[in-house]
Formats: sequence, structure tokens, C-alpha cells
Amino acid sequence: MFKSYFFLFFLFTSSVFSQEIVNLYTSRHYDSDIELYDKFEEKTGIKVNYVSGKGKALIQRIKSEGLNCPADIFITVDAGNLWRIQKDNLFQKIKSNKIKKILDSKYVDSNGNWIGLAKRYRVIVYNPEKIDSLRMSKINYEDLASDEFKNRIVIRSSSNIYNQSLLSSLIYHNGENYTKKWLLNFVGNFARKPQGNDRAQIMAVANGEADIAIVNHYYIGIMLSGKAGQKQRESALKVKVAFPNQQNRGTMVNVSGGGILKNSPNYKNAIKFLEFLLEEESQRHIVSNTYEYPIIDDLDPSPIIKKLGSNIVEDSLPVEVLGEMNPKAVKMMDVAGWR
Ligand SMILES: [Fe+2]
Repeated sequence: MFKSYFFLFFLFTSSVFSQEIVNLYTSRHYDSDIELYDKFEEKTGIKVNYVSGKGKALIQRIKSEGLNCPADIFITVDAGNLWRIQKDNLFQKIKSNKIKKILDSKYVDSNGNWIGLAKRYRVIVYNPEKIDSLRMSKINYEDLASDEFKNRIVIRSSSNIYNQSLLSSLIYHNGENYTKKWLLNFVGNFARKPQGNDRAQIMAVANGEADIAIVNHYYIGIMLSGKAGQKQRESALKVKVAFPNQQNRGTMVNVSGGGILKNSPNYKNAIKFLEFLLEEESQRHIVSNTYEYPIIDDLDPSPIIKKLGSNIVEDSLPVEVLGEMNPKAVKMMDVAGWR
């Protein structure tokens, strides 16, 4: 009797202690991500433990846990956020030749501390009954400050990182003086005080409150899919999407991405997990659920997104610039009165 108890105890403890794990803090909260974690465990035997929450709260948690932080990987959205985490010295170098080979260097931190995992474009959504589609096929971000769009634009507040990153890209391409003037005129074109999230801006255009909204492209995908309800689907069907700057530098690209935390207790497993997320099957899984664009070559986005436009010319600026320019962008937006 004693012997068999002892044997069972041994089995239990050995299985607990030999289980390979990787611990993830993520500001993404998709059920589809959990399916991906299961696939990873099936493939590698490494169990994914995860905590999902708001980005800011998780960063605070990582900082307060310090050396005792159990997380290996932090995943979040926007290169601006990834850059800030790196600036706080919370990431460490991702040593993987596989990742180096797969990813275009413009989607990766130049010091190798974080990587993009999927792409998103900041696009223009418009009411085709109010603005000619041919005009919109030639639209540039720069044009949004012209009188043509007086009182016609809706966009969320300047505290939002997506808008800060858009501004960073404009500073990078046009310089500070140009962007300062541009901002004043752009803010003067707002149809209402900034409020709500990206989806609320799309709804405002669909409802006729404004003619133009600036949003991340995947919100249109989510709304068109019907996953967010019939009302949102109907709104999305009323609007069209324009990809800015197609005749010149291309539409602004941002990433969702992640890095390995400084005190990662399971570094090797963390590398394996990041490599796994860049495999074709994982990328297909991610983009068909989030409506982002794949970050690897030769893979299509979801059919809903593909329908919005193909062969999109992308801005080639390295996404880390979106972070580097962030402090300037925030200051300028404040001065211009963009609340
Ligand atoms: Fe988003």
C-alpha cells in the first residue's frame, strides 16, 4: 500500500517538475489565441501559461514584480508601445537566426529586443456618398489638413498610441515644421471633439456624423465579419476604405508584437514560442481571427481584408521610428490642441 502511494506521489511530482513551460503576459484577449497556445503545447510539449490584461496594467505589474516577474514574454500592440517597454529596459535580446531570416528588418527593433508578429495599416474610412472614390484612391495623409475636409473628419483622442504613431510617421517623412502646421489645420478639420475608439469613428461615418475617419484597418474586418453584431456589420457595409499615399511612399504600417522580458525564467522556450508564432500555420491562424496582415511573406490576409484592396504599397519606414518620434509627436499634438 505504502509503496503504491509512494509511486503515485513520485509520478505526480516528476510530471509537475519536468513540465516545460513558457509564461506569457499579453494585452491581446482573443479566444483564438488560446487555441494557438494549445497547438504550441501539442507540438512542443511546452505548456503556455498566460495572463491577459490591459497593456499599461501589465507593464506596471512587470515593473513591480521586478526580478521575481515570472513572465517570459510580453505581447502588445503598436510599435510605439514596444519601443517604450524597451526604453524602460524590460526586454532582452531575442537570439534566433530563424526569426532573423523570416522577418524583414523594418518590423524588428534594430537592437533585436522586440519583433512584430502581425501588421496593421492606419487607413481612411469614408462615406462613398459624400466623397468620390476616385479622389480617395489618390488621398495622402497630408491632404487631410486641407480645406477640402473642413469639419468632415473624425478621429479618436491624441492619448491613443495609434494616433501618436501616425504622427511619428508624418514627422519622420515631412519634418517637424511641416508637421506642426499640418496638425493645426488637421485639428481644425475635425467634425467633433475626439471621442470613442476606432470603431466609434467608423460608426460616426456610417451614421453621417462625418465623412472621413482614420482607423486601423482590422476594425473594418471585425465589423464586416459580423462577429461584433449585425449593427456594426451594417455600418461597415456603408463605408469604404482608402489606403493613403498609394502614389508615393505608401500607407503607414504598424505592428502588434512582443519581446522576451529581462528576467525570463524560460528563455529557450520563449524563443521557441516566438518562432512558432511566425510559422505559416500560426500566422494564418492569427490573421484569420484578428484581420491583421501577416508579417511573413507570401501569405494572404483574411478574404474579408483582401477584398478591401490588393497590392497595397506600404510605407517602408522601420517601425521602431514610430517609437523614437513618439515624445515629439505627443508634444506636438498637445500644442495643436488635439485632445
Ligand atoms: Fe486595436
